[in-house]
Order: sequence, then C-alpha cells, then structure tokens
Amino acid sequence: MRVPHLALGLFAGAPFAVAVPTQSSTLVARDGASVNDCPGYEASNVVNSDAGLTADLTLAGDVCNAYGDDLQDLKLVVEYQTKDRLHVKIYDKDEQVYQIQEELVQRPPHNKTPSSDADLEFKLVEKPFSFTVTRKENGEILFDTSGSQLVFESQYLRVRTSLPKNPNIYGLGEHSDTFRLPNVNYRRTLWNAESPFIPRNSNLYGSHPVYFDHRGSKGTHGVFLLNANGMAVILNVTDSGEQYLEYNTIGGIVDLYFLAGKQPAEVSKQYADTVGYSAMYPYWTFGFHQCKYGYWDVNMVAEVVGNYSTAGIPLEVMWTDIDYMDLRQDFTTDPERFPMNKMRELVSTLHSRGQRYVLILDPGVHLKEGYSTYEKGHEMGVFLKNRDGSDYLGIQWAGTVAWPDWLAPNTSKWWADEIVTAFNADSGIDLDGIWVDMNEASNFCGNVDCNPMNPGGNPPAPKFDPRPNTGRPIPGFPESFQPNKRSLDARQGDKYKGLPNRDLLVARYDPVNHVGDLSSSTIWTNTTNYDGTVQYDTHNLHGHSMSRVTYDAMLARRPGLRPMVLTRSTFAGTGRKATHWFGDNYSAWDDYRISIQQMLAWVPMHQMPMVGSDVCGFNGNADEYMCARWAMMAAFQPFYRNHAEFSSVPQEFYQWKLTTAAAKKAIDTRYKLIDYAYTALYYQTAKGTPMINPVFFLYPEDANTFGIQTQWFYGDALLISPVTTDYSDAVTFYLPKDTFYDYWTGERVQGQGANVTRTGVSYTDIPVHIRGGTIVPQRNKSANTTTELRKQDFVFLIAPDANGKATGRLYLDEGEKLRQDKVTELTITYNNGQISVAGPAKYPGLKGESIRLKSFKVLGQEGLQQGDLGEGSTLDPETGAVTVEGSWSLNEEFETHI
Ligand code: GLC
Repeated sequence: MRVPHLALGLFAGAPFAVAVPTQSSTLVARDGASVNDCPGYEASNVVNSDAGLTADLTLAGDVCNAYGDDLQDLKLVVEYQTKDRLHVKIYDKDEQVYQIQEELVQRPPHNKTPSSDADLEFKLVEKPFSFTVTRKENGEILFDTSGSQLVFESQYLRVRTSLPKNPNIYGLGEHSDTFRLPNVNYRRTLWNAESPFIPRNSNLYGSHPVYFDHRGSKGTHGVFLLNANGMAVILNVTDSGEQYLEYNTIGGIVDLYFLAGKQPAEVSKQYADTVGYSAMYPYWTFGFHQCKYGYWDVNMVAEVVGNYSTAGIPLEVMWTDIDYMDLRQDFTTDPERFPMNKMRELVSTLHSRGQRYVLILDPGVHLKEGYSTYEKGHEMGVFLKNRDGSDYLGIQWAGTVAWPDWLAPNTSKWWADEIVTAFNADSGIDLDGIWVDMNEASNFCGNVDCNPMNPGGNPPAPKFDPRPNTGRPIPGFPESFQPNKRSLDARQGDKYKGLPNRDLLVARYDPVNHVGDLSSSTIWTNTTNYDGTVQYDTHNLHGHSMSRVTYDAMLARRPGLRPMVLTRSTFAGTGRKATHWFGDNYSAWDDYRISIQQMLAWVPMHQMPMVGSDVCGFNGNADEYMCARWAMMAAFQPFYRNHAEFSSVPQEFYQWKLTTAAAKKAIDTRYKLIDYAYTALYYQTAKGTPMINPVFFLYPEDANTFGIQTQWFYGDALLISPVTTDYSDAVTFYLPKDTFYDYWTGERVQGQGANVTRTGVSYTDIPVHIRGGTIVPQRNKSANTTTELRKQDFVFLIAPDANGKATGRLYLDEGEKLRQDKVTELTITYNNGQISVAGPAKYPGLKGESIRLKSFKVLGQEGLQQGDLGEGSTLDPETGAVTVEGSWSLNEEFETHI
C-alpha cells in the first residue's frame, strides 16, 4: 500500500514489510569480492601538534572497488577541540567528496585544547591504518577501528569499531525500535522516508547519526558522525564473537565527534555543543493541542473548539490540516469551506479566548497556471530543476507539484514572503505556529512508471505500483517509462559538486530503504540542487532545510517572537529551529508504548526536546480505554497533541466519558506543572541538560535501569510509570534504591532497586513519584488556558532526600519573546527545615499575572509533631507532609523554615 491511499483512507492495515538485518561483511561486492578484502590505508607524514595531528592516508594495496571506486589518497585531521570533545575527520585529498554545506548544519568552533587537558586520547596505528579513542581516566577504549579496514570509495564508506560485550547503545534515530538498541544482527538505516504506520526495524522520517554508549560506572560517551548520506549502521557480533558497530554510508566523509561524558546528561550537553542548542519555545506550546485530518470546514473547526469548552477540557491550540487549502495548495484557503473572512473570524475568536491557531504547509507546490505561489516561485527560480531548466515535478496532495530548492538564493525570501502575505494579522490568517509536513520529501510519484503530469484527480489518486522503484532503465519501453535520468552537470553548467562518475540513482551498497530504492517515493536522487550538489548527497537535509527557512520566515512574520515550527523530517541539529512529532502512528497499544521509547531518544540524544506522538494514534480507530491511557501518559511528554487521520473515528478527548475524565485530570496536572516543565526546557536550551531523563540518566550505575523504556523522568524530579499493558489496570515498574514520594498522596515510598507491581490503576490514574532531593514548583490551580494559568499563585513541592535535603529551580519569563530582558532564575534549597529561595529574580510579571508563592509543601516529615513547627506551618499526620502558608514575592530572594 502506498502513500496516496492516505488521502482516500484505504489503508489495508498492513504495515510495510519489516526489513531483515544485513551484515555488511557478508554482502558480496562487485566482481564477487568481499568488502573485507579491501586493502585499507596506510598513514604517513604524521604531524603531531599539541592539540591534535594530521596525516596522509594512502590506499595500502590493490583497489577492491567493492561498492564504488576506492579513493587513493585521503587526509586525516584530529583535533582536541575541548576538554570533552575530540574531532576525527578523514576526507579525500582533492576535497571532491560531498561535505555538508557549512550553512546547513552548525559545526562546533575549531577550538584547540592541549591534548594533555583532554579527557580523551586519540592513538594512531600507521600500518594498516587504524585508531583508538580512549577515556584517559580509566583507560577504557571507547572506539577501536583495528578490527577491520577503513573502506573509502566513491559510493561507499565503512568504519567499524569494536564494542564491549552486550553494549548499551542508544540513539541513531529516527526509529521505532527499542530504546536500548538490539546489538546482534541489527541494522539502522538512515534515509528519510515517508513512513505510514511507523514501520519497525526500518528507516523513518529523520536521520540522527549519533549514539550514546553507556558503560555504567565506567562512564557514558557519545559518538556523532556528521554525515548526511544514506547509511546503514550495523550492530552485530563477528564469527569469533567480537561485538561491533559499523557505519556503512553511500557517500560523504568520516567526520566523527567523540563526546566524553562521563555522565549521560553531560553527553547530551556535549552533543548540543556540537550540533547546536534547541530553540526555546513559547510557554503556550506546553498547552494541549487538537488536530485532525478531515475537519471539513471552518464551522467544524469552531465546533471542535466549542465542544472542548462544553466538555470542560482545556484546549490551548487548535490546528487545521490540509483541509483548509484550496485544492491542497499552500497559502490558499478553500473559498467555500474555509472562506478567508470566516478564517479570520475563527482566529480572532480563538485569540480573544486566549487560544492559538496553527496551520499546515507542505513543500510540494502545485504546478498550476494562475496559482501565484507557484508562478512567483518559478519566476524566482526557487524550484528544483530538470536538465532542460524546467521545474522538476512529482506528485503530492495538490497533484502535480514542484519542490523548493532550499539551497537556491531566492527560496528563503520567496517562502518568507508567502508566509508573511498569507498569514499576516491585517488581511490574512494570524496564525501562531506552522506545521511543515511531507518534507522527506514525500513524493507520491515515486515509481519509474509514474507520470508526474498525471496525478489523477484531487485529492490525487495516482496509480501506485507496489513494485519498488529500481531507478534502472526498462529496455524496450517508451520514453515515458524510463527513469528521469539526466546529465548531472547540465543545470548550472559545470557546477555539479561532489565526486564525479557516480551512479546517482543506484548505490551499489544498499542501506535498505523501507519504501524501495533511494529515489522511491521521494525526489529523485540524481536531481541537482542550485549549488551544484545532488539529492543523492543532500536528501536527508530536505526537511531540516525547510524547517530552518520556515523558522526564519515565522520570525519575519512575527518579529521578536519565538517561532513554533513543527516538522516531520529532521536531521542532526534540527532542534535549533523546530519541534517534531513522531509521524503517522497507529491507534494501537504498541504505538502508545513506542511513543515513550521514541521520546527517550529524541529529547536527550537528538537534542529535540519539544516532541511527542499523535496522541490516541493517527491511523485506524482509537477507543475509549486506549485514548484515556494515552491522554494521561502523554500529558507528561513535552509536545501534547491529539491528531488523527481522515478516515479515523473522531477521537477528541470529549468523545468518550472515560477519556474525558482522564484528559481533565491529565491536563489539570500538566498545567499545574507547566512552569516546572518550562524551566526544564529552558535549561535544555541554555545548558543542554535534558528535560526528559531516561531512568539510567539519573541512576547510571544501576544496571536494572539501562533498558527501561516504559518509564521516564519528566524533568529530573518526576518519575512517570504509566500502565503499558493493553486494557489492563496493572503496572509493574522499577523503583531505584532511593527515596521517593507518591505524587498524588505525598506518601513516602522507599525504592528498593526492585520492581513494584500496582493493580487497580484506574483509567484516570497514572503512577507518578517524586524523587527525593528535588523541589517541584507548581501553580496552585490549573486553568483553561496557559494565559489564565499564569494568574495562579505558585506552590513549591519539596521532596527531601534521605539526608533531609532538596533542591529545585524555577525559570520565569514573559513566555513568548525571543529575547527576554528580565528573567528570573531561582534556585530553591531545602535543608532539614530551612528553606531558601535565591538567584536573579528580575521577571516582574505581566499585568494580572502572579509571581507570588502561596505555600511550600514539605513531604516526608513523619517524625515531627505540630508543636515542633513554626507559625503558618501545618502537619498532615496521615501523610507526614508539612504545609507552610504565606505570601512571598518571587522577584526577591528570601528564606523561611517549616
Ligand atoms: C501526513 C502527515 C499527517 C497529516 C496528513 C495530511 O500523513 O503525517 O499528520 O494529517 O499528511 O496532511
């Protein structure tokens, strides 16, 4: 089943075939040679400096030309960039091989640190060339390539490192596999692809070639390969039992960053130092969002908003999918179903109620006479081009479309102008955020026999041949059947960049794309970009580039305000500009569980904190019970949006009684905790410390936590342990050996480093524990919108550790401006009865907002009597919690006691 059926709601329910892992060493290369026969390289001219080394690498024997042509001469550059980051770069002497454009992906500055100050050590073996990276402190070898030869060919690159037995490897998104990756016969393909139903064991929408390797008390480190080419990363064991991780890319260079850790969260920070820190998002993005493909007209959208009010469920952000467009064309509205005057009324009504509005845009721009977005774009030369200079075409929702070439000089301006014109407050739609979709890019015309000029109806129903696109000529068939092959240098004269003489449609090494060959269901990989690079090399950067340009356009549209851009396709570093949802999942318990695994990788390991799944599932039909659990669980994930497919039954939280009750409680709790979560997001954007913590991040030496993928810390204080079994009221969760408190009752629970089973967990319940040693700032009451919420006073929940101590943080700002002139950053400390609130406290609060603290609640004071307490303090003998009432301003420092 192919993508266009999305439009028709005709999925047969069968996900894409699950790919069978392959071990590259068993693949037979050209002329029957095994890639393992490749000769490797030999280092010479080694020049050592205080902060690294350089060397020449020369092919050490006869070419093996396994999946391309061996490159004879390479360069090696090793830099100790900072104390905790080491850079190893291997590239071709002539620098023809594709390297990611400087402007597309942020690189860390080329700092130099004396090697003697570095935590890591690089050691070179000259012949045959190999290297190791060692953690100096304990001599632990983190990376060791001596087990197999480096292969560097025109269309293939192989680097393998040996690993310890049963390694704990995480990351390498985007995928739907276990959080801790399997390590035998496992392949992670990175090739951004349209992925209906979120297939397992396969590539998905984004590519993040970074992994975390956790070795318990020996430390955690990260390895990032800055390479955007399609690749397969293999985790496996050799015949002799040696564990390894192997990169197999179809191009690009070896551009490795080693991140020393040694704590897991330190690796997160070091990764942010490398690819960039996440953008800070508006306060309102933490509200609850509602969307559905198939809200047929503007009245229906309004009705859904109204239904939420009637049901008493707070709704912060309303979304509209492609339904609003005229003939599925970006920057238009359907004159009958979504007339502009009513759209404007809808938005102003939402805004007057303190609610927000977000619309979708797709990258495929309808080729149609008189459609100004296309015509202007064509005139400005913003589209990807064919050899003859005509626009490269394919099929998307609108029918025949051209795709922006994000590297062409006028594209950003054209896109920003379109956004500013269509979405301005004076005469357009005054939206608050933009959702960019289908930007892998998805092409419904992905097969050789598809004619882009013949989309067949609207919504398009192109003929889809399940046979994968081979990209090869079909002998004996007329021209219209032949792949869109063309000379590579035609478009910009001789500007084709990258190594010449490559087959840009068919890579000999097959990274295994779940939709077929490389060009299947996307822009053909032999398409040239404006700067002369080719889609073969830049494919994985399409969604990333679109996100960047859209972020800037939103900034132009709403100067000074933090842009909120949601993107489906991503690459390493996209977090600097965009949020992400996990795509077209299914209304199934499995997808509910998988959303947790995905979040655990995205937030700390890909530095994309504002992420979440389509709550209650996109494809298929949700039911009351599953949707209730999902509403509850996702309230403790960063991005919280209910979204469903065109033909799915309506699944707004008010559709079922139980779901309504669960959602009310979930949103009530989430909203009270928004400032806590917002603070955690702020510190992730400022310091790189993750706002979602896998359990092992906080208990790195407890081996029982390494594989946990159904529990997480929301922030660093709240341990969330949802029911994850289908239609069950029981949950077995792990409590590390530590002091915890039940979030709902305040009772102390001593964690034993063992599983705890809880039964009778109703559909409106979710186990949440506060970790001893933390302080959670909360609002006293929830509200209908986050604007109203900000009028509520604060209460601080104090959870002392075994020594009677705790600390917490609170960050306050105005919520939406990109640059905040006055912010509050409080550190709250508790030490056996004494409370202190300190730090720069400059945020004055907007009119009507509260920045007052109403009370402290100190948990775990069972040993005290009421008589031991000061004035204003009350002991609850049942739970042992002491409440200290008062009224303190949070823009000054103060101390008090219980
Ligand atoms: C894609 C998106 C989905 C959206 C649909 C229609 O399938 O992933 O979220 O609803 O397109 O725009």
